[in-house]
Amino acid sequence: MINKPLIIAIDGLSGVGKGTLARSLADRLGLPYLDTGILYRVVTRKMLDSGLKPDDADTIKIAENLDEKDWQRSDLRTPKVDRAVSQVAAQIPIRRALLDMQRRFAAKKGAVMDGRDIGTVIFPSAQVKLFITASSRIRAERRWLQYTDNPQDPTREDQIDKIESDLIARDEADSKRAVAPLRPAEDAIILQTDKLSAEAVLEEALTIIKKRLK
Ligand code: DC
Repeated sequence: MINKPLIIAIDGLSGVGKGTLARSLADRLGLPYLDTGILYRVVTRKMLDSGLKPDDADTIKIAENLDEKDWQRSDLRTPKVDRAVSQVAAQIPIRRALLDMQRRFAAKKGAVMDGRDIGTVIFPSAQVKLFITASSRIRAERRWLQYTDNPQDPTREDQIDKIESDLIARDEADSKRAVAPLRPAEDAIILQTDKLSAEAVLEEALTIIKKRLK
């Protein structure tokens, strides 16, 4: 019997710590890791740099010709990219162009993949599917703490308000799009992380994975 490569799908809301979790899981399980949001971010960055729109034919060409070298770019998590990326991710031809790339990535050795539609569309037969959530306020506070160099900043609440509204807007756009919307797969296990540290989320996820693979 040929063993299927092990696929762990980590889907969930924006800024919920999927990347941190998926990277640690990949480390612990000895699997390759792919942050699939990066693919949409590279397309968005190149589209913006070329003055293109999400539905332009040349933007689809960018998606069809992505180069792995671009995944390491340092300018993919800017506010400009954050604001435009949901519109890019809603384009059917762009999703189609990125689908094969994601499947090929995991075909040989398996993978831990984080995204929005891994368990529903990219790998509906993944052996383990986790859907990670946390309230928008907690996600915004965590994100602010990552970036601030002054935790006592008097404008703290205003900054967190702004981050929170951006996260809510992105979740809404990702959940309401017609193609591959953000939603848990029917067989996904939902992990609510409001009260959990990153370490506790990792331990919980490892326990779930072990149980599923038994
Ligand atoms: O995870 P992230 O914030 O880097 O994702 C960037 C955007 O890409 C986000 O708005 C949703 C979209 N995305 C998607 O539609 N499907 C994926 N598998 C991953 C990301």
